[in-house]
Amino acid sequence: MNNKPVTVAVIGCGRIANNAHFPALSKLDNVRIKYACDLIVEKAQDKADRFGAEQVITDYRTALNDPEVDAVFVLTPNYAHYTITMDALRAGKHVFCEKPITVNYALSCEMAQEAKKQGKLLNIGVCNRYHKTVETLEEMVRNGELGNIYHVYCSFRSYRSIPGLGGAFTTKAQSGGGVLIDWGIHYLDLILYILGGVSLKTVTCDAYCEMAKDMKSYVYKGMWAEDTKDLNGTNDVDDYIAGHIRTDKASISFNGAWAQNINKDEWFIDFLGDKAGVRMNYGEYFTLYTIKDGDYAEVSPRYEIPDMYAREDDAFLRATLTGEHTKTHIDNILESAKLLDYLYRSAEQKREIAL
Ligand SMILES: NC(=O)c1ccc[n+]([C@@H]2O[C@H](COP(=O)([O-])OP(=O)(O)OC[C@H]3O[C@@H](n4cnc5c(N)ncnc54)[C@H](O)[C@@H]3O)[C@@H](O)[C@H]2O)c1
Repeated sequence: MNNKPVTVAVIGCGRIANNAHFPALSKLDNVRIKYACDLIVEKAQDKADRFGAEQVITDYRTALNDPEVDAVFVLTPNYAHYTITMDALRAGKHVFCEKPITVNYALSCEMAQEAKKQGKLLNIGVCNRYHKTVETLEEMVRNGELGNIYHVYCSFRSYRSIPGLGGAFTTKAQSGGGVLIDWGIHYLDLILYILGGVSLKTVTCDAYCEMAKDMKSYVYKGMWAEDTKDLNGTNDVDDYIAGHIRTDKASISFNGAWAQNINKDEWFIDFLGDKAGVRMNYGEYFTLYTIKDGDYAEVSPRYEIPDMYAREDDAFLRATLTGEHTKTHIDNILESAKLLDYLYRSAEQKREIAL
């Protein structure tokens, strides 16, 4: 294999760049970070200084016009994923684009088609597919250790966690939605991944925008993405979501809250099989509930959890050299994007929808 490092530009130097991808990329030895790019030059300069990017730019087209750049990381808010990714693919670059693919399924499909047309890779940042717990469960399910999984339930609920109220996160035209597209995508995508190739049958969903209807009276102690807050802006997305999905395998039910009037955070997925059940604590470990030697048994294995961002970035960089479609290639994520679209459609139309 080619030992030359993959030359990349990181476009969007905000939170996920700072907390995940720059630290991950700076650990890898198969990458050269040529550009840190952000509309806000100070953000790009800060990442360049701390993580060793060679040049700071504010216009991503500079990187796209540079023949040395092999691949770009698109780490901007959701509304910018589509344009930057399409431009990058057309400029002949491989693309890693953060989740969600973009604000809806139709545009996601266009992105997948463009990647195919240009013969370039487009990977999506559904990082949990590289989490050790998710990989372990996927293997256990594939080996039949849970038996027939008839239902999966998940809860992703927080007390007060509406991000950047009034800004891009809570403006549907810019984000594509609220807690479902922001957090739910991780949960539903990893459920589809673990179940392995389900065929979606029907969905029903209810979405609520209740907790910050009056943005100025919304009470919180801390707000992530507060730098993008705009209390004179828009909040037209789901802060609470509940739904039910039928597939040819297990049914799936879920509820999620960016905010709720219950001071409990819940982050788990339950896989209910006829041989065993699993509670997966999101981002952590799992507990297997089963019967062993005629008695109840609970197993909570502990193991090292490597940095999933470093693993997903490394897999993407390696794939740029081989052309491999890894498990987070867009073609393997489109089904999750489609599911989200139908859930939102069901909530809007207040009825069950067949796919
Ligand atoms: N995989 C995960 O677990 C995870 C976690 C958090 C965020 N995300 C995703 O990452 C993306 C970014 O989220 P964030 O929280 O880092 O947002 P952020 O607002 O902190 O950072 C985005 C940055 O992009 C910059 N930007 C916007 N348009 C640009 C353009 N045209 N060119 C260059 N820079 C531009 C902004 O100035 C900002 O600094 C979102 O799509 C989000 O859904 C993924």
